Amino acid sequence: MSTIIKDIEIIRTTSTTINEVDFDNLTFGSVFSDHMLVCDYKDGEWQMPKIMPYQPVTLDPSAKIFHYGQSVFEGMKAYKDADENVWLFRPEQNCKRLNISSHRLAIPELPESYFMEGLKALLELDKDWIPTKDGSSLYIRPFVFASGNGFHASPADEYKFIICTAPSGAYFSGDVKVLIEETYSRSADGGVGFAKAGGNYAGQFYPTQLAKEKGYQQVIWTDDHKHEYIEEAGAMNIFVRINDTLITGPTSDRILDGITRKSIIELAEAENIPVEVRKITVKEVVEAANNGSLKEMFGAGTAAVISPISGFGYKDKDYELPKLEKTYASYLKQRITDIQTNKVEDPFGWRYKV
Ligand code: PLP
Ligand code: COI
Repeated sequence: MSTIIKDIEIIRTTSTTINEVDFDNLTFGSVFSDHMLVCDYKDGEWQMPKIMPYQPVTLDPSAKIFHYGQSVFEGMKAYKDADENVWLFRPEQNCKRLNISSHRLAIPELPESYFMEGLKALLELDKDWIPTKDGSSLYIRPFVFASGNGFHASPADEYKFIICTAPSGAYFSGDVKVLIEETYSRSADGGVGFAKAGGNYAGQFYPTQLAKEKGYQQVIWTDDHKHEYIEEAGAMNIFVRINDTLITGPTSDRILDGITRKSIIELAEAENIPVEVRKITVKEVVEAANNGSLKEMFGAGTAAVISPISGFGYKDKDYELPKLEKTYASYLKQRITDIQTNKVEDPFGWRYKV
């Protein structure tokens, strides 16, 4: 869809809160920048996006988002380099995936130009909110939800697309220990696991709470058939290093097609790291942990970047990962963040200048 937008209406805030933010000690996604982009779908089409001060959204109690959970979202980051240039990482991939998710949830797809031009205008306005400290960035949350009313269990006739942003630090604080799930499932064949649908996350909260009570930060989801295969974690795709080979599971309609995941595969291949995209059984990971060939496990995602996993739990037993001096995780994390923040050449053409 190539709808052209010329001028986005901008209503500027009259009371910035930027001076209240401690940019040296940012947590993840808990303070919000001055402005947001809002775009309404009504009368069968997406209306012109507008930028306005960050503020509450007013909805009827009968809005379908509350009852039927028709909502999808994205996660992205903006970075600022030493010369104050603003960069995004493969933003067209997020736009494409938002529409893939929307399609599955019977939400009308958004013109790419509304997403891209709207985001660029928002970032230009809130440029001062982009942190520059190592490991921090402006986390961007585009989302679409059913704002139309009615108790009839059918798609709404009105939607809102909003982008708001949050200067953020690391997603995880400290070590990440994961629990390999044996009972609950995040997704199923033919379901919505591949979509970034809000409900996928709501469904994870309870099993993740149980895991947290046992001292794990995330659940590693396994296939819903027999819980035999490693799929992905709550907020990231999973990589396993056995001996010198990096392995990640193939995407399917149960797994989110992560942009970080696919970038890591390309990056590792370009660096001559042996990579396999194939199904990984829990059994082989446990065996590799027992015989010492399991060298690393890490999660990959926009929020998580590359988060090393220090150990995993399975069938009431804990397995520790070795503490290596040189890891694929730290090497690949450095490479990808250097590309994202314009510190090195980008041979892949992933970086996008705002
Ligand atoms: N899997 C899930 C369930 C996620 O929520 C995320 C985060 O977006 C990912 C994987 C990683 O995807 P990406 O690298 O595109 O952020
Ligand atoms: C992201 O990595 O951007 C995500 O959307 C994950 C989210 C659960 C924080």
